[in-house]
Amino acid sequence: MIGAAVGSRGRDRILSSRESDLEVAAGVLRQGGLVAFPTETVYGIGADCFNIAAVERIFRIKGRPANNPLIVHIDAVERLEALVPNVPEAAEKLAEAFWPGPLTLVLEKRSEIPDVVTAGYPTVGVRIPDHPVARTIIEKADLPVAAPSANRSGRTSPTTAGAVLEELGSEVDAVVDGGECRVGIESTVLGLFDREAVLFRPGGIGIEDIEAILGFPVRIEDSGRQRESPGTSEAHYAPEANVIPFEGECPVLRENEAAICLSSSSHRERKERIFIVESVDDLARRLYALFREADRRGIRRLFVELPPEKELGRAVRDRVIRASRAKRGSCVKRSGAERKR
Ligand code: TXA
Ligand code: MG
Repeated sequence: MIGAAVGSRGRDRILSSRESDLEVAAGVLRQGGLVAFPTETVYGIGADCFNIAAVERIFRIKGRPANNPLIVHIDAVERLEALVPNVPEAAEKLAEAFWPGPLTLVLEKRSEIPDVVTAGYPTVGVRIPDHPVARTIIEKADLPVAAPSANRSGRTSPTTAGAVLEELGSEVDAVVDGGECRVGIESTVLGLFDREAVLFRPGGIGIEDIEAILGFPVRIEDSGRQRESPGTSEAHYAPEANVIPFEGECPVLRENEAAICLSSSSHRERKERIFIVESVDDLARRLYALFREADRRGIRRLFVELPPEKELGRAVRDRVIRASRAKRGSCVKRSGAERKR
């Protein structure tokens, strides 16, 4: 068993971001083990991208459908050639502008990448994370690392090592604790095909910034028919609480209800159950941790203020709306009478 070969799992295998610990983490990956590590977006659970058994184990422990491809993480742009046969000019420009950073480029793949990684697609998603811990582990392991977010499929991505332990603690060979993730929501996933750029998932880099570099518009794939990026078509990113998006005034809260509000909006009583975030960046950074906090407090209905639909706000709206769809039957708007109570 791979886990046995690399040592005991979960809580016993928490590593720090010290160089000697990152050496250990790299060794676990090289031996075919699974390592959870921080990136600037969320924590990932990584394996050697060429080790089929290790990658299959990621799918197993996440309960992830086999048709949902993984992102391959690299430490330097020179490693891209080992993964993709041609790097289009648009990809070069975007890599130059945004890597390391929260942008995943979906490009035609080399046949050497196992089909299990890409779920049989002829393309591979690649990114260089903007986190020294992630890049150092990849560099020391000297491997491209296939890594989805380190949560069980359909649940909220972890943004701390503690949240990784809650999600997958007993199943992984090592968890590297690099503190809280800076961006807090996942990377933007962008497909580049024949001079067309397709947004599969909004994320840490806004499409406005991408379009400014590309010099042409990005096509926004309709989330209802994202055959080419299955992960984005599911109800996703959901806490146990019913998530209810709102715009405008923060609702009056009843028992077992809480709200996440941007500080610019008006809010009144019951401060202990209103989580105030300072900005759209702060909302993105804290969103998943607040989902977890709401669950810990036994909150049944969590109202979340939607930021304007631009830049990072587009990605936050996407996650909140997906989380709200995970539990059917929640109402988005209350009647005037209810709001006044
Ligand atoms: O920020 C992130 O992207 C984090 C960190 C760990 O890097 N990773 C992450 O991975 O969110 P995951 O597996 O949770 O989400 C990957 C998304 C899925 O929606 C998947 O469908 C899409 O990327 N994807 C991956 N490879 C693809 C491909 N070849 N074609 C289309 N979509 C792809
Ligand atoms: Mg995920």
